[in-house]
Amino acid sequence: MRAVDLIAKKRDGAELSHDELAFLTDGYCRGDIPDYQMSAFAMAVLFRGMTPAETASLTLAMARSGDQVDLSPIPGIKVDKHSTGGVGDKTTLIVAPLVAAAGVPVAKMSGRGLGHTGGTIDKLESIPGFRAELQREAFLAQVSEIGISVIGQSGNLAPADKKLYALRDVTATVESIPLIASSVMSKKIAAGADAIVLDVKAGSGAFMKTAAEAEKLAQAMVRIGTEVGRQTAAIISDMDQPLGYRIGNALEVQEAIETLQGIGPEDLTSLCLTLGAHMAVLGGVSASVDEAKEFLKSKLASGEALEKFKAFVAAQGGDATVADDPTKLPQAFYEVEVAADAQGYVASIDAERLGHAAMLLGAGRAAKDDAIDYGVGLTLRKKAGDPVKIGETIAVMHVRTPSGFEDVMEKVRASYVIQAEKPALRPLVLSVVT
Ligand code: URA
Repeated sequence: MRAVDLIAKKRDGAELSHDELAFLTDGYCRGDIPDYQMSAFAMAVLFRGMTPAETASLTLAMARSGDQVDLSPIPGIKVDKHSTGGVGDKTTLIVAPLVAAAGVPVAKMSGRGLGHTGGTIDKLESIPGFRAELQREAFLAQVSEIGISVIGQSGNLAPADKKLYALRDVTATVESIPLIASSVMSKKIAAGADAIVLDVKAGSGAFMKTAAEAEKLAQAMVRIGTEVGRQTAAIISDMDQPLGYRIGNALEVQEAIETLQGIGPEDLTSLCLTLGAHMAVLGGVSASVDEAKEFLKSKLASGEALEKFKAFVAAQGGDATVADDPTKLPQAFYEVEVAADAQGYVASIDAERLGHAAMLLGAGRAAKDDAIDYGVGLTLRKKAGDPVKIGETIAVMHVRTPSGFEDVMEKVRASYVIQAEKPALRPLVLSVVT
């Protein structure tokens, strides 16, 4: 087999076999196939697309290129959850203990943030003492004992995807649905879950800007799951404004705790119940999504979900008393209010711009090795649909110094779209693909 022939085959619109895709993926991962051939292949895929069988083969080849986590020692159906990345998205902090309290074992690997989106591991590490690096045995033992562990992604998970994604990033080949779908799913499959619930974001703060694109990506990922024997469901959710009111690591932990206490924002609570309900159904603890939602609501109301969060944090060395006293979380020293410069109603909030603003305050990383400041970030005072007057506070910046953030303040203000008429808001959950 020669790489050049396979590139030509894809260029001409023919279907590649499982073995041909494994040859390309393995050869590239080992270094036998050079970057210039793999980028030509990626560009051919971008223009020609891939059949469902090809997409599944590429996914499996990438999933098998490195560590494959074996979760079989843990009893029960292990259901993973993945978000394609949003702003203010702290759902894992809520959904994971919530479904664990309902009897679905959660053995999850999460990532760190880069650019305008935050990462679950950074958020968890804002809790004093929390350790995200556990040995494999300790990770499995904790899930067997208390039903939940969330750790950082192993460095050798789907290395072929890591290499290909970096290549796509610099060859204008990221925007291909089969390549994105196989990239995401390869990591989920290597992480060992039996079933997967995906939260595919659509909107200004998301990778997929429209609901139609997000739905196509969701369908491709659900199809891969089905092809490789992992039941998969995808929720398409709105990212035309951030989720909840808080953006920034410790601020988001605080909002997650409030949600587990049953006093969180309505949008965040509702999305967590939807994601959790699909996990409970795939995990076999509920017969239907509606039944699962009621079951999960009872776990919030009884305090069991919050207790599970505390047990999880404590098991990983964190100070679980932050759940009773959030002032123990890292705090920024100053609060600077951002005032509206227009009157009317908030129509939408550019989540990507706001995520960048939070990053500039120090809550996120511009480059992979940047340090982050856990205490800083933003609290929104106004969200889409809210009336607003000129001079009224729309958001608060939590910062380390009282001045020097004028450009960020402008970015925050500019991310609010204010119009004269009350807007018609689209629902948070746009559709579900199963
Ligand atoms: N996220 C991924 O993990 N892979 C992609 O290709 C795009 C987004």
